[in-house]
Amino acid sequence: MKLIPTLPVDKRVDFGKGVNSLKVEIDAALQELISKLSVQPVSKVKAELFDVTLPGKPPFVGKKHPLTQTIDDIKEVFASLGFDVAYGPEVELEYYNFEALNIPADHPSRTDFDTFYIKDDVLLRSQTSTVQIRIMEKQKPPVRIIAPGRVYRPDTVDARHSFMFHQVEGLLVDEGVSFADLKGVLYQFIKAYFGQNVQMRLRPSFFPFTEPSAEVDISCSICDGKGCSVCSYSGWVEILGAGMVDPNVFKAVHYDAEKYTGFAFGMGVERITMLKYGINDIRLFYENDLRFLSQF
Ligand code: PHE
Repeated sequence: MKLIPTLPVDKRVDFGKGVNSLKVEIDAALQELISKLSVQPVSKVKAELFDVTLPGKPPFVGKKHPLTQTIDDIKEVFASLGFDVAYGPEVELEYYNFEALNIPADHPSRTDFDTFYIKDDVLLRSQTSTVQIRIMEKQKPPVRIIAPGRVYRPDTVDARHSFMFHQVEGLLVDEGVSFADLKGVLYQFIKAYFGQNVQMRLRPSFFPFTEPSAEVDISCSICDGKGCSVCSYSGWVEILGAGMVDPNVFKAVHYDAEKYTGFAFGMGVERITMLKYGINDIRLFYENDLRFLSQF
């Protein structure tokens, strides 16, 4: 067929007709051969080799961040004890972060928490205790809430510290609430979350917004209390601060401190997650490395 244009004009027509009929003949013979051998053209073979009974490719499904999972687990335990979940803003008034929590401007305990200021009286909250005040302003007793969320502190980042981390606050106010109730609730939480073998102990402590106050330790779940680097070879690790709500806090929210008592606690979510899963560096939570995150 390529030769046609090179021929003298008067020869082209006949030659062309001849070539064409030859082509038709060859095509027909080929088709016959193909169907005889039942050989299919490649594209058709591929299409029919597709086996619809093979399992499909699973779509990529993400999962919850380990810290979100821990918060969900904590919520579940406290839900079973009758606690509601409350939230407050991360950008907060100084009043809620300090004043209303019995931390006046000249109080020395402000230094540890003196945080990221947006304006003179607006800051990133350094603790979820702010939510205690916001809830009590809105609600009369009985109050029974937990409040998870992010907090911010001017801490230098290392394996155990971060300028941003998560807390879960707890608050229960009613008539006749005692320190024994606080201990009982924390005991139930620790057993439910860490398991029956974990021990709890309370050490006297100080927080401006609770009196008396305690720091709560659990037996180190990494070494079973035998002593390791995570618990500084003491067998115990601190997981939360707690205490009975200070009457000055009730005053700020116009609760009758003669009639009502209550307890509050605040726990570090990163710390709890690290203990539960044996994670030794807090920075792993924030690096978005799927090799880490996909293990949970
Ligand atoms: N807000 C305290 C902290 O961040 C923890 C705490 C909460 C202590 C409630 C007592 C009562 O360290």
